[in-house]
Amino acid sequence: MIDLRSDTVTKPTPEMREAMLSAAVGDDVYADDPTVNKLEAVVANLLGKEDAVFVPTGSMSNQIAIRTHTEPGDLVVLERRAHIVRSEGGGGAALSGVTMRPLDGVNGVFTADQLIETLGRAHPFNPSTLLSPPTLLCIENTHNGAGGTIWPLDELRNVCETGRAHGMTLHLDGARLWHASASSGVDVSVYAEPFDTVNVCFSKGLGAPIGSALVGEKPFIDRARRFKQQFGGGMRQSGMVAAAALHALEHHRGDLSIDVERAAFFARALQSTAGFSVDMASVQSNIVRFEVEMDAGDFASDCYSRGLYMLPSDQHGMRAVLHRDLSEEDVDAALQIMKQVVSGSSNP
Ligand SMILES: Cc1ncc(COP(=O)(O)O)c(C=O)c1O
Repeated sequence: MIDLRSDTVTKPTPEMREAMLSAAVGDDVYADDPTVNKLEAVVANLLGKEDAVFVPTGSMSNQIAIRTHTEPGDLVVLERRAHIVRSEGGGGAALSGVTMRPLDGVNGVFTADQLIETLGRAHPFNPSTLLSPPTLLCIENTHNGAGGTIWPLDELRNVCETGRAHGMTLHLDGARLWHASASSGVDVSVYAEPFDTVNVCFSKGLGAPIGSALVGEKPFIDRARRFKQQFGGGMRQSGMVAAAALHALEHHRGDLSIDVERAAFFARALQSTAGFSVDMASVQSNIVRFEVEMDAGDFASDCYSRGLYMLPSDQHGMRAVLHRDLSEEDVDAALQIMKQVVSGSSNP
């Protein structure tokens, strides 16, 4: 089965498993695990922040950030297809009591003007007590829901400065910030610079089985550690999985540019095939969102029966994600299967 559902399907290599097996471990709840401590220091350093906390998932990392940044009743502003608002099980409401204001972005990117408009106008005639205080701005980069798109640096800085000027704190969901950097050449620390906190994941396209980190200045991360425990994220000998993350950063991160190139190749091939359409402007990293002429559910099922696994997203929308566990032959074979299905060929 050729699996293009997500880059989260990448598996640990034998070398990564070896690194896990030989990892020095301790009890991380007592801050005693040397491999977790090393990973946290490495990631904080990569992102140009003081400290990091290792957590099991990107969702937990984002939710801890929200809990640490906000009070119940606060307003979180973000893009409408952001993972935080769409795919974290209502965590913001359930765990932090916040409300969310989703903005309509273009390719996942919204403007400083949109942000200003949503914050409303302070005036003595309008009692400020009526409002949910807009305290937290969240940005996703790359933006999964928009097709793995990357925030232009100027736009990113502009929106962040505007949020900051309005007293907001800033969180970056950088589950695939590594991919943004691999594609644009902009260092992850440059993307991270305007933000108070950043979530990064090791389980997306890097082959690590589990793990994310929330990164920021030390007092914030000290407080975040309390919510990690409260949310059930306190782990014991988690150095075994932190070792996989360290191995991924050292040995696999450099390969992400191959996935980016393959996504561009894959998108171009679909774009030139009858029955498919791709908004090429949205293909910026390893994710390809495209439209298929036939019903997307039928298309996905037919592809699956011929050995290709992909996710339909709406009536004609599909998502394919390129990753390190695919060979060039897999990518070619996937394109062949898709062409056969859309042309109604019965001969796989
Ligand atoms: C942009 C983004 N943020 C957060 C997450 C959540 O990560 P996890 O699946 O580790 O909870 C994902 C998952 O794919 C994601 O795409």
